[in-house]
Amino acid sequence: MTDKLVVVGQGYVGLPLAMRAVKADFDVVGFDLDQDRVKRLQAGDSYIEDVAAEELKAALESGRFLASSEPKACAGFDFAVIDVPTPLRDGNPDLSYVESAAALLARFLRPGATVILESTTYPGTTEELVGPILEEGSGLVMGTDFHLGYSPERIDPGNPQWGFANTPKVVSGVTPACLEAVQGFFDRLVERTVPVSGTREAELTKLIENTFRHVNIALVNELAMFAGELSIDVWEAIEAASTKPFGYMRFTPGPGVGGHCLPIDPSYLSWRVRRSLGQPFRFVELANDINEHMPDYVVRRLTMALNRRRQAVNGSRVLLLGLAYKKNTGDAREAPSEAVAHQLLNLGAEVRAVDPYVTEAHIDTRVARVELSADELAAADAVVLLTDHDVFDYDLIKARSGYVLDTRRRIDNPNVEHL
Ligand SMILES: NC(=O)c1ccc[n+]([C@@H]2O[C@H](COP(=O)([O-])OP(=O)(O)OC[C@H]3O[C@@H](n4cnc5c(N)ncnc54)[C@H](O)[C@@H]3O)[C@@H](O)[C@H]2O)c1
Repeated sequence: MTDKLVVVGQGYVGLPLAMRAVKADFDVVGFDLDQDRVKRLQAGDSYIEDVAAEELKAALESGRFLASSEPKACAGFDFAVIDVPTPLRDGNPDLSYVESAAALLARFLRPGATVILESTTYPGTTEELVGPILEEGSGLVMGTDFHLGYSPERIDPGNPQWGFANTPKVVSGVTPACLEAVQGFFDRLVERTVPVSGTREAELTKLIENTFRHVNIALVNELAMFAGELSIDVWEAIEAASTKPFGYMRFTPGPGVGGHCLPIDPSYLSWRVRRSLGQPFRFVELANDINEHMPDYVVRRLTMALNRRRQAVNGSRVLLLGLAYKKNTGDAREAPSEAVAHQLLNLGAEVRAVDPYVTEAHIDTRVARVELSADELAAADAVVLLTDHDVFDYDLIKARSGYVLDTRRRIDNPNVEHL
């Protein structure tokens, strides 16, 4: 008999998983509380870049994928995966979405079923929070009556080389039998699973990966600010350092970090360390401090550039190129463009912005959304390249702009300054 899978949360992580599972012959329910999203899925309209509309339509036509916001659609599941948001609220982990997803699944939990948490969270969540909610709601015992485990998601939206199936998947369970069930599930979906001995190790794995990136980006960002003052080309030094074939990994400066992971996940770790041990996680706090202040530095550099031309930010027309936190994607969550735009507006600038991918309104409504054109570039007192999407016409930008602050070192020209 075909196994039934429920994926709770149909976002960047949950929808690609659901699509993959359809191809692996599961009967899949994509459950989401957001009725607009569910309607779009039912109509074959994908809102996630990594899932093509054709793939979604094929899944619907196969009869193996049902998008629903009806709790009863979850009944009778063999496997359930939780892919709901884990944001911060007032700087602290907000696990309310995970709690409500677990409470929903508890209602339909049957002996022998397997529940897997994929949302990024602090070590201990699966066993200390999700397990008890499932037990209480179902009357069953984890590890004895049902399987429970954690498997961090490593999806990298827009990455053409590493997708869901070929990225190794770390798997864990609260008991050896749970691990076996979780590993067996993902062995059907990905090329390689990597078992670890407990759910806390798996939860920490994800936080190590993201904290590592966060700290290294902060390192090059701070270097970029000092090197700028010392008139040293930090980009050239980074490229040269990157030729070392061992013991070095290339990270580049930028206008700040964004997306759903880097600005948030390391704080889950530092929160857990502080709460359990009463100590600060100094690396995370320092990296937060540096990365959060990068938009201020961008605005300062722009102010200095205008000042050299005896111009004030107040009244200047500034054209921002790229609003997404990452190139070639439309994801503007927590993107530094928001802080840059906000500060410039508060200083009295007229801010206009180009981003062909970002449709959702994460940006101040006072920012005029425009198309990239020779006239827009020429009319701007300053152009700031925040996200170096490949679709931008860089020859046009070089040719028609008066001044460009390039925060990604994408272009070189006499009218271009780098971060
Ligand atoms: N986006 C990434 O690149 C990425 C990578 C790795 C891990 N993660 C982690 O995966 C988790 C999910 O992230 P995402 O980017 O997919 O989020 P998302 O916001 O794209 O999607 C989450 C979905 O869950 C739905 N939802 C919220 N509460 C629900 C509930 N109780 N029941 C059903 N649906 C509910 C929302 O409506 C939304 O559609 C987070 O913990 C995140 O940190 C994200």
